[in-house]
Amino acid sequence: MLTLFGWTSKKKVSRAEVLQKRAERRKKSTQPIATTTPKIQSRKERTTISPFERLALWWAYDIGIDLGTTNVLIYIKGKGVVLDEPAYVAWNINTHEVVAVGEDARIMLGRTPADIEVIRPLQDGVINNYDMTEFMLRYYIKSVLPASSLFKPRIVICVPSGITPVEKRAVIEAVLQTGARKTVLIEEPLAAALGTGLDKATSAGAIVVDVGGGTTDVAVLCTTGVVVSKSLRMGGDKFDEAIIAYIKRRRKLLIGRRTAEEVKIAIGTVDRKAPIEEITVRGRDIVSGLPKAITVTSKEVQKALERPVSIILEGIKDILEKTPPELVAEICDHGIILTGGGALISGFDRLITRAIGVAAYLVDNPRYSVIVGTGRALREMDRFQDSLEELQ
Ligand SMILES: Nc1ncnc2c1ncn2[C@@H]1O[C@H](COP(=O)(O)OP(=O)(O)OP(=O)(O)O)[C@@H](O)[C@H]1O
Ligand SMILES: [Mg+2]
Repeated sequence: MLTLFGWTSKKKVSRAEVLQKRAERRKKSTQPIATTTPKIQSRKERTTISPFERLALWWAYDIGIDLGTTNVLIYIKGKGVVLDEPAYVAWNINTHEVVAVGEDARIMLGRTPADIEVIRPLQDGVINNYDMTEFMLRYYIKSVLPASSLFKPRIVICVPSGITPVEKRAVIEAVLQTGARKTVLIEEPLAAALGTGLDKATSAGAIVVDVGGGTTDVAVLCTTGVVVSKSLRMGGDKFDEAIIAYIKRRRKLLIGRRTAEEVKIAIGTVDRKAPIEEITVRGRDIVSGLPKAITVTSKEVQKALERPVSIILEGIKDILEKTPPELVAEICDHGIILTGGGALISGFDRLITRAIGVAAYLVDNPRYSVIVGTGRALREMDRFQDSLEELQ
């Protein structure tokens, strides 16, 4: 390039070169970013939209994301929940190539050759591996967005209530890197409350306990939004770890994370009075180092979970102590609203009711409360404007 008295004369480029460059660009933009494509599993929460909104879908998409420690869920305005995938990425540590994302990566957990590592980019509700979080988000967004959308999407994303500004910044950066036109943050407990049908305008006071995989968010909400909240680094993952530690200590058997989660889901309970159930568990005997199968009872699982569950109960008590007295009466009327996948463990509502003295209710489909609430915030953006943190 030659610059002379402000005039710029460009080097002449042949048509063949232009065509080759264009072909390269096209190839790059259509290349899959990983070798697998996540299945689009759920289209449950469908909404009716006006013809104008349908037309708007041609131009740009409004997306809600529940970026959870264990699962990522995506909502598209006008379509409902379009993606529900585990937050796992499998990559080759030598070539730095991603080999699988989502369920395909989760299946590989604990069964990979030495050079493949299966990771969860988020830990305890916050980003642990920035690059992989961005990759995973970009991959999921790309897999649900039709090629017809002309403009970049507007994204509403959930964050745990207690994350630091640095952790929040990391989420924002990751979303912006995916090509979002505008990013809006919503606190998880508020989204969960909206998803359970609570209306900010009419509900005077309510307490929501969202037990996720990495965090448990406890929040008191009233007409103006979140009054007091707490995010405990405690959830389903810690339940699994507690089961692993218990079986190792008491039964001298080493089991993996996936097995521990299977045990928790199959026979797990936090209720001391629950009828006893059994399951056969396979692992490695610590003494002999050989494979062994044992029978584990639900009573053992309940004992293993006593400590992590007591931390959640303490968290709820702590929040209630900080709640303005006027709201406490309202909370007693509404009861404690239980959401999140971790709350699905048998007997959790009964245990909370007994320990706190306020009735606790497990909502329908607790894993979907946050994403359904995010979708609602997206649809009624004007109404919830003051509770959303607009960033771009
Ligand atoms: N039936 C069940 N019984 C017990 N636990 C369950 C059940 N189903 C799912 N879980 C647990 O729920 C957790 C995932 O819940 P959820 O999808 O709400 O978490 P997340 O939103 O990804 O995490 P976070 O909100 O902490 O970032 C996992 O630990 C999983 O083992
Ligand atoms: Mg969650």
